[in-house]
Order: sequence, then C-alpha cells, then structure tokens
Amino acid sequence: MGKRGNSIIKGLEISEIIATLNRAYADEWLAYYQYFIEAKVIKGIMKDAIITELTLHAADELRHATMIADRIVQLGGVPLTNPKAWFEHTNCGYDEPINFDVMGILDDAIKGEQCAISTYSKIVEMTKDKDIVTYDLVSSILADEVEHEEDLQALHDDISDFIEDLKKQLQK
Ligand SMILES: [Fe+2]
Ligand SMILES: [Fe+2]
Repeated sequence: MGKRGNSIIKGLEISEIIATLNRAYADEWLAYYQYFIEAKVIKGIMKDAIITELTLHAADELRHATMIADRIVQLGGVPLTNPKAWFEHTNCGYDEPINFDVMGILDDAIKGEQCAISTYSKIVEMTKDKDIVTYDLVSSILADEVEHEEDLQALHDDISDFIEDLKKQLQK
C-alpha cells in the first residue's frame, strides 16, 4: 500500500472503498462465469452470433475483475479469496441459465448488464472528487457495461425482428 497514493483520497474511508470494490469484484466473477457457461449451453436461432458476443463479454468481465483486484490491493485490501464469498458480497447475483433458448439467455444477460450499470453508477458517484484513481477505473468499466447492454439489446432486437418477419412470411 503506497502511503502517498492513498493520502490523496479525501472524504471517504478506504475500508469503505475496499468493501464496495469487493462487492463489484464478486459481481464480475459471477458475470464472467454466467457468460462463459451461457456460451456453452445456448440453443436456437442465430446462436453463433450470440456465442461470439458472450465470449467477448466474458473476457471483458474477467478483465474488470483483474482491474478491481489490482485496485483493492493498491488500497491495502485483500480481494475476496474464496468463491463462496462471491455470493455473500454480490450486488447483482447470479442468474443460472435454466432456459437455454437464445431469448432467455439474452434476457438474463441484459438484466445483468443493467444491474452492473446501476452498481457502477453508484460507485462513480461515491468516488467523484474523492478518490480519483478509483473514479477513473470505475468510469471506464461503466462505459464497457453500457456498451455490453447495447450489444445484447441490438442482438435481442435483431432476433425479435427476424421472428416477426418469419411469422408474416408464413401467414402469406
Ligand atoms: Fe464487468
Ligand atoms: Fe458487462
């Protein structure tokens, strides 16, 4: 823990920042696994396009977990060391894929990204003008989560349109 680096944090308890980051850290690992396993079990139309997206997102969530773990250590904390703790600390939980259909998977994933956006918005607000380094870090993660939601929603809309068109064609 760098003393000067931490001395620039104003108006926030470092222990509070560490606890908040550990909750986000739990979210990232659970999101990583959710995307990883969804990409394996998904079924239905246009699944290859969705697998590509889910695999990219999984890599992003793992990268976010790495960034957060490094910041926790920099602040003098310890990232959660036991996967069991992920379920105790998570903000967004874990949506086990039960319906493997493309639409069910996309709905769960979009819900997860929306929760991530809410979570990081709160951390951005919390650290603004107080902890510049964490603020920059969570701002860049927030931008990724916004992009994730958009990518998944676009796929969701494409598939919905495709199904609607198909229904119309069949009715002719
Ligand atoms: Fe993430
Ligand atoms: Fe995400």
